Amino acid sequence: MGLVERLMESTAGLTGRSVLTLQEWTPNEIKSILMTAAWLKANPKVAQIRYALAGKSVALLFELPSTRTRVSFQVAVEQLGASPVIMGWTESQLGRGEPIKDTARVLSRYVDGIVIRCRHHETLAEFNRWASVPVFNALTDRIHPFQALADVLTLWERKGRIAGLKLVYVGDGNNMANSYVVLGAKLGMHVVIASPKEYPPDPGLVEWGVKEALLTGGSVTVLEDPTEAVAGADAISTDVFVSMGQEDIEAKRALLARYQVNGALMARAKPDCLFMHCLPAHRGEEVTEEVIEGPQSVVFDQAENRLWVQKSALLQTLSD
Ligand code: CP
Ligand code: NVA
Repeated sequence: MGLVERLMESTAGLTGRSVLTLQEWTPNEIKSILMTAAWLKANPKVAQIRYALAGKSVALLFELPSTRTRVSFQVAVEQLGASPVIMGWTESQLGRGEPIKDTARVLSRYVDGIVIRCRHHETLAEFNRWASVPVFNALTDRIHPFQALADVLTLWERKGRIAGLKLVYVGDGNNMANSYVVLGAKLGMHVVIASPKEYPPDPGLVEWGVKEALLTGGSVTVLEDPTEAVAGADAISTDVFVSMGQEDIEAKRALLARYQVNGALMARAKPDCLFMHCLPAHRGEEVTEEVIEGPQSVVFDQAENRLWVQKSALLQTLSD
């Protein structure tokens, strides 16, 4: 049996699955996405992969702006031999109030998978309830699972391991903070979130993550003090102070000012600590130019790895 056949056989159980928060995936299933992503990255020209999803279509439906997610999903779909169907939210009948439950059932009659970026997580959940094809979360206000997968692939490449790493997220307790709580707990990492008490990560997810991490040898901790949080960090990640769809209020920016990742904060972590950011970045706000452009920064590896983890997930869930 060839490598590709073995790969497909080992992931056969994932056919038909959606990617919503990754809480619904087991650690071994998540590792399978990561391992296949690494394999695809190392073997980009294997002919069978280029036709793996030939004849299939994947809808890409975006309610919010995107550069990385939209392009990397479109390219991933094309590189697997399938056709992307790009849909703007407002240009579809959704913009005129057609119910999610009708849209999900209609699209399921045409396409084999649906990638959605939407403002409210509940919209994604509703879509998934009614769709009869896999649904892929391309970011909601609650969670951004493919970014976290790409970030963990980057850590694995750079550190040679995942379990046991200390990943510290500094800043707004937003969808990226929540994503690290989920994935870190699943994979036995030590995740620390440093955010102001006014802008914490989702308390329900943190409670879940603390328990889940007990099963995997990891841990989830929420602190207020960024300086305390980054001690001994293998990686520090941050994100914008104001996410898409959030109200941009001066008081929030003022509270978050002391959560900027700068040279002084990086110096408190391990000497080989990586700097991570999902991008887009605001230099001078959540991160300094010196840090994002410095030797510890891996932000463009993270961006590239979006392609590989998404290609892996599409391959494994949409293959016959
Ligand atoms: N990191 C990320 O999801 O970027 P986009 O908003 O450009 O897709
Ligand atoms: N937290 C950011 C991530 C962007 C990729 C947002 O939701 O806007």
